[in-house]
Amino acid sequence: MSRITLSCIKADVGGLVGHGEVHPEMLERSRELLGESDLLIDFHVTRVGDDINFVMTHREGVDDPGIHGLCWDTFKKVTLVAQKYKLYGAGQDLLVDAFSGNVRGLGPGVCEMEFDERPSEPVIVFMADKTEPGAWNLPLYKIFADPFNTPGLVIDNKMHAGFDFIVHDLKKNEQIKLSCPEEIYDLLMFIGAPHAYVIKDIVSRELDDIAATATTTKLSMIAGRYVGKDDPSLIVRCQSGLPAVGEVLEPFATPHLVGGWMRGSHCGPLMPCTVEDARPSRLDGPPRVIALGFQIAEGKLIGPRDMFQDSVWDKAREMAREMAYIMRRQGPFEPHRLSLEEMEYTTMPQIMKRLAERWEAIPEPGETARELIASGRAASTGDGGDID
Ligand code: F6R
Ligand code: MG
Ligand code: MG
Repeated sequence: MSRITLSCIKADVGGLVGHGEVHPEMLERSRELLGESDLLIDFHVTRVGDDINFVMTHREGVDDPGIHGLCWDTFKKVTLVAQKYKLYGAGQDLLVDAFSGNVRGLGPGVCEMEFDERPSEPVIVFMADKTEPGAWNLPLYKIFADPFNTPGLVIDNKMHAGFDFIVHDLKKNEQIKLSCPEEIYDLLMFIGAPHAYVIKDIVSRELDDIAATATTTKLSMIAGRYVGKDDPSLIVRCQSGLPAVGEVLEPFATPHLVGGWMRGSHCGPLMPCTVEDARPSRLDGPPRVIALGFQIAEGKLIGPRDMFQDSVWDKAREMAREMAYIMRRQGPFEPHRLSLEEMEYTTMPQIMKRLAERWEAIPEPGETARELIASGRAASTGDGGDID
């Protein structure tokens, strides 16, 4: 067995057209640049919507400055392609000018794990657009803690002991380990609020080995202003004491509602689709997820297989399309529009400031408008004198 690192690093560095997808030349340039590196054992470049994802294998470990620097430089150079064609939002996820050793906190999304390559090492890399890292909470719970999704939790000796979930509190920048199945109710209390708490890692208790890892950065929190939803990625190892490939894909058969979509401020279905179809267009969405399967052999990425290509997923796509119609009926009303604190775009502070003087006390029972004015609790801008 040999130690291997699987990294998925992604960024949106420009869209064709608007925020819908990327230019093929950006992918070609990425392949050319990553191909020149002698740090990588293997790599695969793909995209979901307007996000470019680098799936890479190497022996440098996680958080390696060389690997992160390679990705940063590549995204910078790919931005030049986006700029050449005046693509939309060129370089939008590269939030600083200078690289400082690690792309975490600088804009790109990162998930990576180091492990001993097993005799056979099947992995699935999920990548989503127009949503947020908390979008993985529900499927990860189903895969690793719900026996209705994952029969192996009940009938595979190596899975019966359950899994540890590492959950991040995005606001406080803290993490907690919760062990399942014993603590599933505690876990659900947190991860049921996916904009605030997100699952970062999952570890097999029987194998004492990493099973899944997700991107967790929140761009809006890094930048202190809206810079696009930080469309997330997720790596899941499968089989031999970990969930089977089919158990890992199963939650996506019934699409769930996630935050994101138009202006990162709406709730909509996460639609499983092929790489080919991962080009959002309806109200910039609905949110998409792709799944690429690889077998890792001495670090080489054998594949990918486009896991949602099978026509069995057509029904899930149809359900997601239907859910999109249902949510859209709500227009600017919650829960289609996200709650005030979850929206990535807002005009609320400006509106509040402009209308501040026009708010007044609700009259007490029997109190007339004239009495309200006399009490000094009426809005200061309206004259109100002739109302009663
Ligand atoms: C959501 C997204 C898009 C944009 C929208 C407005 O993640 O990328 O829905 O938010 O197209 O974009 P701007 O503000 O760039 O005009
Ligand atoms: Mg974009
Ligand atoms: Mg995107």
